[in-house]
Amino acid sequence: RTVYVNGEFVPEADAKVSVFDRGFLFADGVYEVTSVLGGKILDFAGHAARLERSLAELDMPMPMGADELLDIHRKLVADNGLDDGLIYLQITRGAADRDFAYPDAQTPQTVVLFTQEKPGLADAPMAKQGMKIISIPDERWGRRDIKTVQLLYPSMGKMMAKAAGAHDAWMVEDGHVTEGTSNNAYIVKDGTIITRHLGNEILHGITRAAVLRFAREAQMRVEERSFTLEEAAAADEAFITSASTFVMPVVELDGAPIGDGTPGPVAARLREIYLDESR
Ligand code: PDD
Repeated sequence: RTVYVNGEFVPEADAKVSVFDRGFLFADGVYEVTSVLGGKILDFAGHAARLERSLAELDMPMPMGADELLDIHRKLVADNGLDDGLIYLQITRGAADRDFAYPDAQTPQTVVLFTQEKPGLADAPMAKQGMKIISIPDERWGRRDIKTVQLLYPSMGKMMAKAAGAHDAWMVEDGHVTEGTSNNAYIVKDGTIITRHLGNEILHGITRAAVLRFAREAQMRVEERSFTLEEAAAADEAFITSASTFVMPVVELDGAPIGDGTPGPVAARLREIYLDESR
């Protein structure tokens, strides 16, 4: 596998970053995950725009223009013969002697990109089966709109879900669902799609933006507002969205079925529209 590190395309065994990298020492970095279907890169413009925003919120510049970034994405897809899979991108504030204060702005940023092969990404059996979700308290920091590499709590959440025999966890704050460990959360009640409004409490999903646009174009009702765990338990259906899962139905919450406990029609339709429009 060829990996991109700081201007070079190298075999993964030769891809190295400093032990003093602030991404490693302080989680002082941001990332993006972009999906590839049939060799086509999905929603690149959205990911590039969010990347620029995440960096700006942390007083970091874009290390290069979006066009140059896209060229790197394309070269990795070509060099690695990637058909279905993901492209991971990470930018950190670079390597500097350990100090909480940011280093000199001249410090070169660390830029890393690699690919992950996911054969049949769009045909995941989970789309037919549906996911089991547990609820956990949201114990992350307050700027979840910035896509930082500070992912320990989401990792813990995923392990809590595994231990409970579930696939993922929805995080709850003040009785309201924020989002999934690595995805945005939705319920459907009486035909209306309900998902939390944008703010600092959730990541502004690129898939979320696309799916809501498609839903409105298809004359489906959408409400962007927070919903409670009780509402989720009483919903007709539920689903998640992310670059790696597209639209994925949720059929169980904390051990109880949602609706009839099978993937719902709204999630199925949105998944189909999203995949049709993206390919
Ligand atoms: N996660 N919320 C959180 C907390 C996320 O980490 C993600 C993405 C999303 C969905 O955003 P998008 O639709 O832009 O992928 C929402 C990626 C896939 C990851 O960490 O692997």
